[in-house]
Amino acid sequence: MQIDTMLDQMAQKALADIAASTSVAELENIRIAILGKKGELTAALRSMKDITEEQRPAFGKRVNEKRDQITNALESRLADLKMQDMRQRLVSEAIDITLPGKKTTLGGLHPLTRIYYEIRDIFVSMGFDVMDGPEIEYDKYNFEMLNMPKDHPARDTQDTFYVSDDIVLRTHTSPVQIRTMLNQKPPIRMICPGRVYRSDDVDATHSPVFNQVEGLVVGKGISLAHLKSTLDTFLKEFYGENTKTKFRPGHFPFTEPSAEVDATCAKCGGNGCGVCKGTGMIEVLGCGMVHPNVLRGCGIDPQEYTGFAFGLGMDRLATIKYGITDIRLLFENDIRFLKQFQ
Ligand code: DAH
Repeated sequence: MQIDTMLDQMAQKALADIAASTSVAELENIRIAILGKKGELTAALRSMKDITEEQRPAFGKRVNEKRDQITNALESRLADLKMQDMRQRLVSEAIDITLPGKKTTLGGLHPLTRIYYEIRDIFVSMGFDVMDGPEIEYDKYNFEMLNMPKDHPARDTQDTFYVSDDIVLRTHTSPVQIRTMLNQKPPIRMICPGRVYRSDDVDATHSPVFNQVEGLVVGKGISLAHLKSTLDTFLKEFYGENTKTKFRPGHFPFTEPSAEVDATCAKCGGNGCGVCKGTGMIEVLGCGMVHPNVLRGCGIDPQEYTGFAFGLGMDRLATIKYGITDIRLLFENDIRFLKQFQ
């Protein structure tokens, strides 16, 4: 066959292969097969030695033309394939921004924490400090200095966990009052929240661990009127403006006089319901004027200073406020229960 015809056929096939190639790798193989060291066009160039001297320039020119043609075809096909690749990637890697996002679940505050924050904020806005004390406490601070010596009958009402003869799990937050008065000169205005322990059997209304908030104010000329107005203000802020309060005589060894305070039932607004057992009022806290023995024991002269104190159960306030009928729900940390407070 004529060498020119061979060249034409080879170029034609190469151009067809290039046009039909479907990947960059395939195209590279075609390039090597034609233009590579052992490629067909390179072989054609070598075959120049077989033709006559006169034919050579024309043949060389044709080979160069074919090479340019093929090189251009390779380049433009390469650009096409790259573009095609990119389009494919854009489609396959496309992000569907209309898909709904993954929901991150946020935790919420435990109902007891919420109750505590509310109580704390009200008292802090009235100028109270927040104090802390240990849960494992000296008998001396938990009882003795609160006017409850070893044989005092009031000790029996607080079923105490004893760690040793003189160390207990605190049965109330009142020892923090003692610690504060021992450490700080009046005027004192503080609340102290915390866990307390009593050896009670667990049921819907009892738990061996529960939570109290205690308050103490000591200063010159502090009177029962201050106690009443402070607690009245607190209960109105906490339960609502229309809350009425009732101070009944009570007894606590560490206060004299002592009182128990009822507030309008938050559930029925005073009409009477199951929560308040039809009375329209609910007992919410204990309080009184700090007993002179307690002040004296802490090195504060009861002739110069007087004070009032109060204590309330946060679990009780939480159950009343949220209509929770079983106190155990507050401690079991069942997510289905806790979710309702988010
Ligand atoms: N500590 C008492 C209790 O746990 C509650 C209490 C009553 C605290 C009267 C007080 C108070 O500070 O004045 O039952």
